[in-house]
Amino acid sequence: MSNGLCALVLAAGQGTRFKSAVNKVLHPILGKPMIRFVLDSLLDLRPERVIVVVGHQKDEVAKAVAHPQVECVVQRRQLGTAHAVLAARAVLARRKHDDVIVINSDLPLFTAGTIKPLLRLHRTSRSALTVLSAEPENPSGFGRLVREGHGRLRVVEEKDASPSEKSISEVNTGVYIFKVRDLLDILPAISNKNLKREFYLTDSIALLQDRNKKVSVYKTARAAEVVGVNTRYELSQAALALRDRKARALSDAGVTVLDPRSTWIDLEVEIGPDTVIYPSVTIEGATRIGSRCVVHPSAHLVNAVIGSDVRVLTSAVIKDSLIGDGVSVGPFCHLRGKTVIRPGARVGNFVEMKKTDFGRRSKAMHLSYLGDSEVGQGVNIGAGTITCNYDGVKKNRTTIGNDVFVGSGTELIAPVRVGKGAYIAAGSTITKDVAADSLAIARTPQVEKRGWAKRKKELDRKRLERKK
Ligand code: UD1
Ligand code: MG
Repeated sequence: MSNGLCALVLAAGQGTRFKSAVNKVLHPILGKPMIRFVLDSLLDLRPERVIVVVGHQKDEVAKAVAHPQVECVVQRRQLGTAHAVLAARAVLARRKHDDVIVINSDLPLFTAGTIKPLLRLHRTSRSALTVLSAEPENPSGFGRLVREGHGRLRVVEEKDASPSEKSISEVNTGVYIFKVRDLLDILPAISNKNLKREFYLTDSIALLQDRNKKVSVYKTARAAEVVGVNTRYELSQAALALRDRKARALSDAGVTVLDPRSTWIDLEVEIGPDTVIYPSVTIEGATRIGSRCVVHPSAHLVNAVIGSDVRVLTSAVIKDSLIGDGVSVGPFCHLRGKTVIRPGARVGNFVEMKKTDFGRRSKAMHLSYLGDSEVGQGVNIGAGTITCNYDGVKKNRTTIGNDVFVGSGTELIAPVRVGKGAYIAAGSTITKDVAADSLAIARTPQVEKRGWAKRKKELDRKRLERKK
């Protein structure tokens, strides 16, 4: 269904105040590039199209906004907000949309809910332009909305404002809805006769009114949503607000987040009901956690897929890995590189696994490294077991069958296979395959020299006496 609506996101600027080699709008907040927040809010409105004006690092920005509904246009030199809109003129003229939402790209807290009443007013009042205004706590940096007699409106940029204009608390949020036809008519008339020598989109207000076109203002009460992010400090403040939003959404869905102020959970993370997240936990990327899990303090999960009834204990690090139902991992373990922990298994402290498939109900409770390995069901990995998977050139595999018992302090020199049901004596260095159901002992036999220690001590004592 077409609603006659399109959107134009201005994103060609660099964001100088970030002092970054990376365009401001590409900086991520809770796992999402800043520009995607505005974009996703706009897409919620189901516009017929979203046009993004790119310039600075245009390819990277275009990549970040890639979507079937999104089209990018390039503004080669950044000569002001009206000049940016001009870059989209051809696209706007070609497509027959009725209205266009024009919005800055640095508003990560912005939601579709804020634009809906603006759109309603714009359409019911049949305005050529409807401006979104607000009264933020701190209006500095914004253009001020000057309401003159007879409904005349004007926006004065802070740099151009007189002291009395600066004292106005109502500001231009930089969000507008234009009738496409009226916008295209007015654009060529905008000049750059101001202190910054920029083409100001805000000049369209006076120009439209001069032509007896109706300009309306909708003042939003949600001022926090329209405060742009211009510095890294403001980025951190936006992240705090979004983090709280995420914690609220999770709480509403039945998740206990014990301390939202110390917990960082990326926006796309999914968590099932009755799971409890302890303080100082960081959960990033495409992580999914099932129901009734506990995630203890300082755990760090990145792109982890975790089943239900899982215990993730203190300081566990899990990256790009899959954890089955009823598993317990940690404290202090590191699971990475597409490791799979099958249901009911247990991984204890100071255990690292990389690219390892660890079977159902198997256990590796202490101080072990398992890399490039496949471990069957019901296997016991003794303390201090190490797969020696790297020969300096390539990684080699270790395969351990079901119900194998690996004694403590074992080194498995890959490539090597241990057949099902086998035992490996503690302290073994296994260099050859072990057949099923057998015992492998691979350690040098113990030698005992009776009285040797006593004789040595006697000798040492005599040497010391001679020195004196
Ligand atoms: C603009 C408004 C100001 C408003 C404020 C809200 C103008 C003249 N002023 O000021 O009234 O209070 O937003 O935040 O419009 N951009 C381009 N190409 C350009 C220039 C800018 O794409 O040539 C983009 C920027 O990347 C940015 C947006 O337009 O996303 C706003 O530009 P900016 O220079 O930050 O305008 P402000 O000075 O904030
Ligand atoms: Mg700005």
